[in-house]
Amino acid sequence: MNLTLKIWRQKGPSVKGKLVTYEVSDISTDMSFLEMLDVLNEKLILDGDDPVAFDHDCREGICGACGVVINGVAHGPLQTTTCQLHMRSFADGDTIDIEPWRAGAFPVVKDLVVDRSAFDRIIQAGGYITAPTGTAPDAHAVPIPKRDADHAFDAATCIGCGACVAACPNGSAMLFTAAKITHLGLLPQGEAERERRVVRMVEQMDSEGFGMCSNEGECEAVCPKEIPISNIARMNRDFLKAIVS
Ligand code: SF4
Ligand code: FES
Repeated sequence: MNLTLKIWRQKGPSVKGKLVTYEVSDISTDMSFLEMLDVLNEKLILDGDDPVAFDHDCREGICGACGVVINGVAHGPLQTTTCQLHMRSFADGDTIDIEPWRAGAFPVVKDLVVDRSAFDRIIQAGGYITAPTGTAPDAHAVPIPKRDADHAFDAATCIGCGACVAACPNGSAMLFTAAKITHLGLLPQGEAERERRVVRMVEQMDSEGFGMCSNEGECEAVCPKEIPISNIARMNRDFLKAIVS
């Protein structure tokens, strides 16, 4: 495939950015979207130009690092991560717009790389449990109803990619924060800090400048791990319970 790419280029956080047009050729439909960007970057380096900065690590849909907005949609046309999106989702001759996550709480570092450390600080505020150290207990020592275990596991699949924030018109991080709170709050091991956790994590989320939820549902629609917004309702219930008790 031959493609035209319009890529957001920005040298640094306080420098004005702009879309720059590039042509790439001989792109295989089997390449991932990131491999297509690698082809562009190899060409830019050979030409003595500055390669496009983009974040990535696992390239297996696990680490959550690789998020970009493709043709106006977080992670592009499929509900998956950018590294798991393949060029067969595009057609020869297409023009593709590629931009970084757009959210006040995710400032641009360079080109397509944004600073998502606000998520780390939300986790630091309460995304942990207190457990005695020592040898690992038997797996069946603490019985957990299967429904709770499944629900907690589903919430734990959140990879912290930030697509939910990028897609939300309010730049809200509620789906991410709710997933982390649900994951720990549903298990007996997370019960001890349940009230403190929800209050601290929500307060940290607010202090980072993320917006509020207005039930748009855009977060759920782009989440590569299909985290449902019912987690947000659950977090709100937990938060209210914690502040009135
Ligand atoms: S809730 Fe979904 S979209 Fe948001 S950070 Fe987690 S995995 Fe990414
Ligand atoms: S590079 Fe790890 S999820 Fe895409």
